Amino acid sequence: MADINSAKLNLEKAGFLDIDVDPEKDLFAEIERLKKEKNAIILAHYYQEPDIQDVADFIGDSLGLAQAAERTDADIIVFAGVHFMAETAKILNPSKKVLLPDLKAGCSLSDSAPPALFKQFRDKHPDHIVITYINCSAGMKALSDIICTSSNAQKIIESLPVDQKIIFAPDKNLGAYINKQTGRDMLLWNGACMVHEIFSLEKITKLKIRHPKAKVIAHPECEAPVLAVADYIGSTTGLLKFTQKDDAQEYIVVTETGILHQMQKNNPQKTFIPAPPNNSCACNDCPHMKLNTLEKLYLCMQYELPEITMNEELRIAAKKPIDRMLQISAQYGL
Ligand code: 13P
Ligand code: SF4
Repeated sequence: MADINSAKLNLEKAGFLDIDVDPEKDLFAEIERLKKEKNAIILAHYYQEPDIQDVADFIGDSLGLAQAAERTDADIIVFAGVHFMAETAKILNPSKKVLLPDLKAGCSLSDSAPPALFKQFRDKHPDHIVITYINCSAGMKALSDIICTSSNAQKIIESLPVDQKIIFAPDKNLGAYINKQTGRDMLLWNGACMVHEIFSLEKITKLKIRHPKAKVIAHPECEAPVLAVADYIGSTTGLLKFTQKDDAQEYIVVTETGILHQMQKNNPQKTFIPAPPNNSCACNDCPHMKLNTLEKLYLCMQYELPEITMNEELRIAAKKPIDRMLQISAQYGL
């Protein structure tokens, strides 16, 4: 069994502290103890596994998580999500320790926009401002004018003059959806999310025939033909809130399956059917989000590793467009 010293040496390669955890240990109790002892807060995204959501202090979509990171007075932020989310928390909290249970929890959408390539593209369109989806690296944020999330993208675009030329990156599906909603003609970077891009319209249509009363609810990272059959489109928080106030009893949920945990918890009498992808799986998990486990969460709190660190110049440059997003969101009460 690896001890802490060899696990630390291997941390960069493994991405997490690869130490066996006693299976008899009550991890829920241990994590609660560590939270109190270390004045730590766990922020979790809805795509995390149910056990992690159940120990989290706050569960949210990307906007909610950024706002929670901005207002916390904890000394340690443990981010149960993916790298760009933990990085955003660090950008907002340079003096706090920000931990991510598995450093390899990345994001295909973020990977689809390498800053050096994007800079060349941006420099070819100097009359455009750059609105960037939060699912991107700090390097991309530093090249942007305003950050947005799926819950505030439309409002942010609408807050700009109609003749303002805009580059939207990195998600072409969200960008196309916002273009359609707002009548704008934003220039779209060609990026996409590997999870939301593979939902099968054919399988969703078949599910709809078998469950005629079910409403289709979808995340705007999905492709246009899938969004075209949706009764409601929104961020993860938007989808969750919709299922709470809407009176249907069945929903076909077209986003990562982790969200079903809160949907089912908040609406035990309703049925939630995960939309299938166009492969042999019945549901669609994000392989990056699911790298985090309760064991890795416990180990990262115990040893305060892996930690997110960042060059200060980059942090300051990346913070400006996030601050603009938070200001505009506050103006609209989002
Ligand atoms: P939201 O939770 O902000 O809707 O984002 C979804 C997502 O894909 C996060 O990676
Ligand atoms: Fe990235 Fe898609 Fe996974 Fe979200 S679901 S973290 S956008 S790969």
